[in-house]
Amino acid sequence: MASRFLLAAAGAVMLACCLQAAFVVLPGAQAPALRGARTQGDASFSSLGMTSVAATTAAFGVAAAVARSRKREAKTAAKYTTQTILPSLAWIKTGVKASELKNTELKALTLAGNDVLIGKTEAGALFCVGNLCPHIGTPMSEGADVIGDVIVCPLHGSSFKVTNGELIDWCVSPPIIGPLTGLIVEKKNLLVFECRQGGFLGSGEVEVLVDTNAKKAYEANYWKGLLDAQGKDDGTYY
Ligand code: FES
Repeated sequence: MASRFLLAAAGAVMLACCLQAAFVVLPGAQAPALRGARTQGDASFSSLGMTSVAATTAAFGVAAAVARSRKREAKTAAKYTTQTILPSLAWIKTGVKASELKNTELKALTLAGNDVLIGKTEAGALFCVGNLCPHIGTPMSEGADVIGDVIVCPLHGSSFKVTNGELIDWCVSPPIIGPLTGLIVEKKNLLVFECRQGGFLGSGEVEVLVDTNAKKAYEANYWKGLLDAQGKDDGTYY
């Protein structure tokens, strides 16, 4: 469509050039009616010339504005979507071998937009959980402890089973303040990701099963909420 407007603009320019050539460049070859106009006075001649220039400029302006707006629309649509994004699960290599992790050691990674924490229990079992605490989103990697098969958040002491994410204790420290902060957020389990050791007989890197569309889905949800709130997406927010 943009190219059609550009063609129209080019046509308008050519037409204007022809008109100007008839009036200005080849004054001896003027059409009788126009010659009359010329002889009747330069004022009417000039105004006719100015009109063609103005029309050309206007055509250019409209074509450029339409092309710009279409370009902007396409760019925005490519960048932001409010559609429902379905999960797309895939095994992603972590670049870490299980043999490199000591028992109770943790390693934070971002895999296809997912913040995860791989680690080993006290007994040496490999696990992978979400790195962000479900309380207020603090990274567990900032000092979490692994005790047996339980991980303890460093900020308010919430603890979760690493095997299934089950909540054990919710915001127990420091006294009074921890439990108070826990009251304002709904209790939740910790995210758990499936993980495995790749390669022959598990000799390769640790791999984690993640939703590669997680970031896209989060962003789509964000924009939908924002636009709904302004009645610009589907107006269901009112
Ligand atoms: S942020 Fe983890 S318990 Fe508060």
